[in-house]
Amino acid sequence: MKLAVVKYGDPVLTKRAEEVTEFDKQLAKLVDDMFETMYAAPGVGLAAPQVGVLQRLFVMDCSGGNNPKQKLALINPVLELEEGNQMGDEGCLSFPGIYFQVKRPQRVIVKAQDLDGSPFTLDVMDLEARCVEHETDHLDGELFINYLSPLKRDLVQRKIKKRVKLGDW
Ligand code: NI
Repeated sequence: MKLAVVKYGDPVLTKRAEEVTEFDKQLAKLVDDMFETMYAAPGVGLAAPQVGVLQRLFVMDCSGGNNPKQKLALINPVLELEEGNQMGDEGCLSFPGIYFQVKRPQRVIVKAQDLDGSPFTLDVMDLEARCVEHETDHLDGELFINYLSPLKRDLVQRKIKKRVKLGDW
């Protein structure tokens, strides 16, 4: 089932999500629905708070459905290592149509749990590292506009306010 994606302005996006403790059918269904929602958008990552669920998990697939190995659900992710730097364009399904350059680590090692609660470690670079960083931020209520200078952030926020007024948000 496709879920509604919460847009910037909703307070759920700036709250810290809670640890997942129940690895049950309900969690599996949520992950399934999140993948469906992400692919339909289309997007390469989606965190639970973006569908209104304040739990520490996200889904990602930087291959856009072309490589099953890149279809990943990370539950209770914890960043273990951040290395190097990369600049690149970034977007967010909670900020439709808004893209800008964000500096992120080039490589990330992240520990997480799978749907059964079994721990695993992921060592990723480039776009996947960017995605892990962006989605993990969502679980702490951090949004990518926080990486902009105050001036640029103000500009983006004014643009959004205009779109809200126009009913285009
Ligand atoms: Ni996002």
